[in-house]
Amino acid sequence: KHLVVAVDGPSGSGKSSVSRAAAKALGVGYLDTGAMYRAVTWWCLEEGIDLTDQEAVAQATRDIPLEMGTDPASPSVHVGGREIEDDIRTTRVSEAVSKVATNTLVRPLLQQLQRDLIDQVATETGGVVAEGRDITTVVAPDADVRILLTASVEARLRRRSKELHGHAAEHAVEATRDQIVRRDADDSTVSDFMEAAEGVTLVDTSDLDFEQSVDALLDV
Ligand code: C5P
Repeated sequence: KHLVVAVDGPSGSGKSSVSRAAAKALGVGYLDTGAMYRAVTWWCLEEGIDLTDQEAVAQATRDIPLEMGTDPASPSVHVGGREIEDDIRTTRVSEAVSKVATNTLVRPLLQQLQRDLIDQVATETGGVVAEGRDITTVVAPDADVRILLTASVEARLRRRSKELHGHAAEHAVEATRDQIVRRDADDSTVSDFMEAAEGVTLVDTSDLDFEQSVDALLDV
């Protein structure tokens, strides 16, 4: 029997690093579905495809030579053999990705790709931890374990501001607050992260550090 763990949560909830560590501890594969939306976004920008042209972006999603590396020790993203792990984390991609994530022609294509990957990785490694925004509800509603990882805006802000230094830090904290609130608003078209769907376990990491968050996920 394969173990499928679905984890959803907002940006800055620590969802990616916590899910990855949990996959490592469980000895199973790890799938970052947000990286797939980012990869399609990066590819469209590279190819000069108009991100507001829904059909063109859907066609790019069908054509993209995307390879997701699902080893939690070294997850990777390749397009046409090129490693793009850094390219998809740039501000340029982060600011454009919601155009792809809200494209109603693209979502079912990536969701099906994700279901196939989850099946494949689970079969190969005995299980998988898949994380994103709609894994517990749409991609893998039948997962053995379904978790919504949340953290208050203040907690997510605290974590980010720890990474900021110098005289601009105070200014940057305000900018980051705006960014978090805006990203939440962008994402709210996908789902409401304040509420867990039926059968989904809510894990609030606001008052937990990284290790405690991983343990909380493993407990479930
Ligand atoms: O988690 P990450 O920030 O990498 O996600 C990138 C973008 O993809 C976000 O805008 C997020 O809303 C979107 N996304 C999504 N569905 C998923 C995973 C991510 O719409 N399953």
